[in-house]
Amino acid sequence: AQNPLVVFTPSGKRGRFAVGTPILQAARSLGVDLDSVCGGRGICSKCQIQPGVGDFPKLGLHVTADALSPFNAVEERYDRIRGLKAGRRLGCQATVQGDIVVDVPAESQVHKQVIRKAASDRAMVMDPATRLAFVEVAEADMHSPTGSLERLREALAAQWQIGDVTLPPALLARLNPLLNKGKNRITLALYRQPDGSHDILDLWPDLHEGGLYGLAIDLGSTTIAGHLCDLTTGAVLASGGLMNPQIRFGEDLMSRVSYAMMNPGGAVEMTAAVQEALDDLARRLAEEAGVDTAAIYEAVVVCNPVMHHLALGIDPVDLGQAPFALTTSSAITLPATGLGMHLNPQARAYMLPLIAGHVGADAAAVALAEAPHKAEALTLIVDVGTNAEILLGNKEHVLACSSPTGPAFEGAQISSGQRAAPGAIERLEIDPVTKEPRFRVIGCDLWSDAADFAAQVPQVTGICGSGIIEAVAEMRMSGLVDASGLIGSAEATGTPRCRPTGRTHEYLIFDGSASGGPVITVTQADIRAIQLAKSALYAGARLLMDEIGTDTVERIVLAGAFGAHISPKHAMVLGMIPDAPLEAVVSAGNAAGTGARMALHSVAARREIEAQVHRITKVETAISPRFQEHFVAANAIPHATAPFATLRS
Ligand code: FES
Repeated sequence: AQNPLVVFTPSGKRGRFAVGTPILQAARSLGVDLDSVCGGRGICSKCQIQPGVGDFPKLGLHVTADALSPFNAVEERYDRIRGLKAGRRLGCQATVQGDIVVDVPAESQVHKQVIRKAASDRAMVMDPATRLAFVEVAEADMHSPTGSLERLREALAAQWQIGDVTLPPALLARLNPLLNKGKNRITLALYRQPDGSHDILDLWPDLHEGGLYGLAIDLGSTTIAGHLCDLTTGAVLASGGLMNPQIRFGEDLMSRVSYAMMNPGGAVEMTAAVQEALDDLARRLAEEAGVDTAAIYEAVVVCNPVMHHLALGIDPVDLGQAPFALTTSSAITLPATGLGMHLNPQARAYMLPLIAGHVGADAAAVALAEAPHKAEALTLIVDVGTNAEILLGNKEHVLACSSPTGPAFEGAQISSGQRAAPGAIERLEIDPVTKEPRFRVIGCDLWSDAADFAAQVPQVTGICGSGIIEAVAEMRMSGLVDASGLIGSAEATGTPRCRPTGRTHEYLIFDGSASGGPVITVTQADIRAIQLAKSALYAGARLLMDEIGTDTVERIVLAGAFGAHISPKHAMVLGMIPDAPLEAVVSAGNAAGTGARMALHSVAARREIEAQVHRITKVETAISPRFQEHFVAANAIPHATAPFATLRS
């Protein structure tokens, strides 16, 4: 007779197995994702499965209750002490007795999909580099003397089919005491290298079920943002950010490169500052999540090329001038201490590959998260920050460039500008008839014309990046500003809010002076700063479109922490992005941060982006005369020549 049929759900994988085969073994031989830390010893309970009984008409199967072996002593003991959920079995103990359908619940999968919390969250597949493995090591035998490490290696090969394992010398001294304590049972934190070999990062006596944690860090030139994540479940346990302390050496990247050029030891100083900040962020996130920094085994860092070199202690001077030679563009795995981070002493850091001298690992992370290389539609992705990273493409080809937008989009170098923090105006509308503004402030749900706004709003402090973009776009739509960006006088615009200052005019949004608060206006210089930033962004996008030979794109993705807050309509009115139907413009939230988390949780994601960056065509904006032409034409609002048909409809 034929061997019984075993069908796994949800994967649908199936095969015939001899009576008596453990379900865990069947799963492994079919490549079904079923977790196990103890290697099938009935200790860890990671291998839990849910057998199905009854009729499965689609499969043509009738499964009887005796299709699995009854509870054995190991399961009974486990159930008595720890409790198994109703209907669950340990996959390593239950054996095949007849045709059976076996469901692998999400929590028993190593490569589980992490549930999306927000619409902008990417579904994430777990394929972690670091995982726990429990091993039973043969006892020392006086008659065949081998070292404990050698016996550990043999056990790993036999119980986990893992051949090439390194124990760092710093951990060697702990091996014998731990083996003695655990009676030759030991749990290892194993880190999988790209070549398939493994490093032992940590070890514990007997079965250890403590957490393994990792950091995903988006190291920007202005802010450093990070997530502390559980490497087993993919859950985000704490998120936070801090200002990049390198700001004191220069607001933008090029001024930091010049600082390194002009000051001997300047690069070293900046490296120390950023490494200290990375360490500080790690400590803060760990504290917030109540996690010991020693339980953090991995960090993934994405950043632009200048930040990348400085974080690694590489002088970035070559990135200041053509040919913008990177010291290395490959992905790097290094001890986390190499980035100044004090996590677990053996913790590893992974830095995504760089795309080009101006297009960094942050853009690579965006590419990983947004996957233009898999898209049918021609997709334009702009990650707006101090520097805009721009990607254009579909599954045929992907192009990338970066464009020096400057910090105006982040509220910097704007007269009333500030970071996006409580008190900042983040949304703004201007009545086309009365020219009166109404706005919303971060930290308060009401619009400013609501009756009890004054009572509810803690205080209005300034205007942030999304606020200034909406303000300028609304000023254009209500005729307070002309296409060249000039603010009209009170007479010309019909509102006293347009008031003279020196030889130009400014628009008054909020006057809090009576109560000692700020006076918030949009000045002519503010409009010019926004025009420069948006022209740079548009010109970069157009340059890529020229390369592909297209006048239109099918989809636009606004990324970046700040991209999440830009309204597509206002971006279009300003001419920040090329003309496209508004419904084709979507926000992806912090795509670089998402890409960093994907790389943290998945070795396959790391390999994917390492392969993809070689296929991305880099376009250099700095040396392109076409960029200058596009830049000049894009200075008008929305544009000197492009028709922007969307805005007319
Ligand atoms: Fe650990 Fe089954 S594999 S209990």
